[in-house]
Amino acid sequence: MSITKSVFGKLKDGTQVELYTITNANGASVALQTLGAGIQALNMPNKNGVMGDVVLGFDNPQDYENPDYGYQGLVVGRWANRIRDAKFTFNGKEYHTPNNQGQWTLHAGGRFSFTCWEVESTGEDCITFYRFSPDGEDGFPGNLKMWVTYTLSDDNELRIDYRILCDTDTVANPTNHAYFNLGDDDNATVEGHYLYIDADKFTETDDDQLPTGLLGDVKDTMMDFTFMHRIGDNIDAPFRAIIEGIGYDNNYCINNYDGSMKTIATLWDKASGRKMDVITDLPGVQLYCGGWLKKDYTAGKGSNIVKFRRGAALETQFYPDTVNIPQFPSRFVKANEEFKTTTIFRFSVE
Ligand code: BGC
Repeated sequence: MSITKSVFGKLKDGTQVELYTITNANGASVALQTLGAGIQALNMPNKNGVMGDVVLGFDNPQDYENPDYGYQGLVVGRWANRIRDAKFTFNGKEYHTPNNQGQWTLHAGGRFSFTCWEVESTGEDCITFYRFSPDGEDGFPGNLKMWVTYTLSDDNELRIDYRILCDTDTVANPTNHAYFNLGDDDNATVEGHYLYIDADKFTETDDDQLPTGLLGDVKDTMMDFTFMHRIGDNIDAPFRAIIEGIGYDNNYCINNYDGSMKTIATLWDKASGRKMDVITDLPGVQLYCGGWLKKDYTAGKGSNIVKFRRGAALETQFYPDTVNIPQFPSRFVKANEEFKTTTIFRFSVE
């Protein structure tokens, strides 16, 4: 195990972005950038032992600042995904968040993702990023401290521990927005990847992809990933919830949620043999296959371009808009009590 530090580059305002690379005993590695405490690269072996980068991203840090490029690998907070009408009521008070998507809020307006985090500590196999979010930032209550620790194991597991401490009760829903492509072909979309999600239900949405509060059954629909099959099998199916997001852009409700760590999804690329299990203590996962990324984008890492359906994001989270929908499972932040959540991406070959 080793960790090295380098300069990634400069943001548009001149801020220097640093990159920390952790390499394990097998030569697998993760590169983590201070911008958005994000995953910039993740190199994992294929079935022949050849390393390949399994996350999309950019060579130039300034490309990560463009929200149209989809928050590649960045941490999203304070509240991931959508908030209806850019407002919510919490403990009897109304709060207003940025309406960065017309009437509503996406990814809390983006500030969490588009600033550089401090590096609080590093170890041989881990790094902890820290960010302070003052009371009222993006409209959210409380002076909030957040830590994100990434740990890479010799078993090719990337573990993300989120820790939050706030001086008042507040709401929080952090996630990581990495897009995975486990294959070795820079031109292939993620449609050929096989996927399993342990969810019988998904959150139904309206035309703006905002949850209606109802849960839909995946059974006998194109939404069903309770058995492993190719993402592309039904991605263009004439099913409302899929059309809205130009392919999958849906929150799945994890079966038997009880706050314990569970394997909730598996992504597999047959050609490379790379397989990824997603393990989390959260009740939801947003499957987003990059339908909003344009076909003619040219930015990326070398010939590995961030564009339409090139990657699948599996964003572990509380359901979108839970702040406005009391029947959704929630666990809000209590004043001066640590709030923790963990997600692990475990890699193997098959
Ligand atoms: C959302 C998508 C959005 C993407 C990038 C996902 O979490 O559900 O609609 O395009 O993030 O911002």
